[in-house]
Amino acid sequence: MRILVTGKNGQLGRSIQKIVNTDTKIDNNQNSNEFIFVGREDLDLSSESNINHYFINNKFDIIINCAAYTLVDKADEEAELATQVNHLAVKQLASIANKQQARLIHISTDYVFDGESGKPYTETDTPNPINVYGRTKLTGEKALQTVMPMNALIIRTSWLYSEYGNNFVSTMLRLGREQDELRVVNDQIGSPTYATDLADTILEIIKHKKFKDVGQTSQIYHYSNEGGISWHEFAKEIFKIEKVDCKVNPIKTQQYPTPATRPRNTLMNKDKIVKVFNIKISNWKLSLNTCMTILRQRQ
Ligand SMILES: NC(=O)c1ccc[n+]([C@@H]2O[C@H](COP(=O)([O-])OP(=O)(O)OC[C@H]3O[C@@H](n4cnc5c(N)ncnc54)[C@H](OP(=O)(O)O)[C@@H]3O)[C@@H](O)[C@H]2O)c1
Repeated sequence: MRILVTGKNGQLGRSIQKIVNTDTKIDNNQNSNEFIFVGREDLDLSSESNINHYFINNKFDIIINCAAYTLVDKADEEAELATQVNHLAVKQLASIANKQQARLIHISTDYVFDGESGKPYTETDTPNPINVYGRTKLTGEKALQTVMPMNALIIRTSWLYSEYGNNFVSTMLRLGREQDELRVVNDQIGSPTYATDLADTILEIIKHKKFKDVGQTSQIYHYSNEGGISWHEFAKEIFKIEKVDCKVNPIKTQQYPTPATRPRNTLMNKDKIVKVFNIKISNWKLSLNTCMTILRQRQ
């Protein structure tokens, strides 16, 4: 099996590479699998012709699309680029996957929802994105499902963090060490997701018998770590684990205006992925501890 992973320099792409390069179980069980990791320099999703050109001489059995335009607050001013990468390129990848008879795993977001539901979102709940990023991700999902009604899988995730790049955990650690007090919003609720856990889940799925069966209707799945918290609680736990002496003051979203509006409550119901692929989901605190242990060892 030739497996293409896009977004090799992003949080999820790097987390998949970390597991593939270190997990001997994968070598032993999947020694017929060849992973090819590509970044923007190899496959530029902002260019239709570059995408077509790349796939002329490159054929795959599975494409895992971890690349995306993820700058939520900049997406408004770069709407055209965000649309190209999150919508049009996904549509094009789906059409190429069809031609190559490849399976496509695409990553989407909890930000396709408006956050106004009183209960965790299921895959059949109606999306209603409230910012440009969420809208481009939703149109990407829809285009994928139209072009590829079979053999594709969309995984919506939320609040992704990792030991790589800039994310909430690295930002809080930096700010917490610089300042005595921080203000963090406590009225947006979601589930943090350690990118390594999502990477593990994707690798579990591609090994699963149900994924290997061809000719299945394309499906959406929700995946995050277990538990729902606010950004304020998340920051407090980061400082507690790392013993950072910084007071975290809860504030409301109106007190911290951002260019893009964020949904208030995007907890997702994960029963479907657990049931279909027998996925074990780790609690957010446990996974945060794992990530922070790795970060500490690096210092
Ligand atoms: N981060 C979150 O909190 C979050 C939450 C929910 C869902 N998601 C979704 O989860 C997936 C993975 O997110 P992540 O946090 O790993 O994202 P990330 O760290 O921002 O990585 C995204 C990757 O996409 C690449 N990319 C951007 N534009 C590209 C282009 N024109 N051509 C090729 N590659 C391009 C970036 O390349 P460069 O490194 O060269 O910039 C980057 O490596 C995405 O689909 C995202 O929408 C993320």
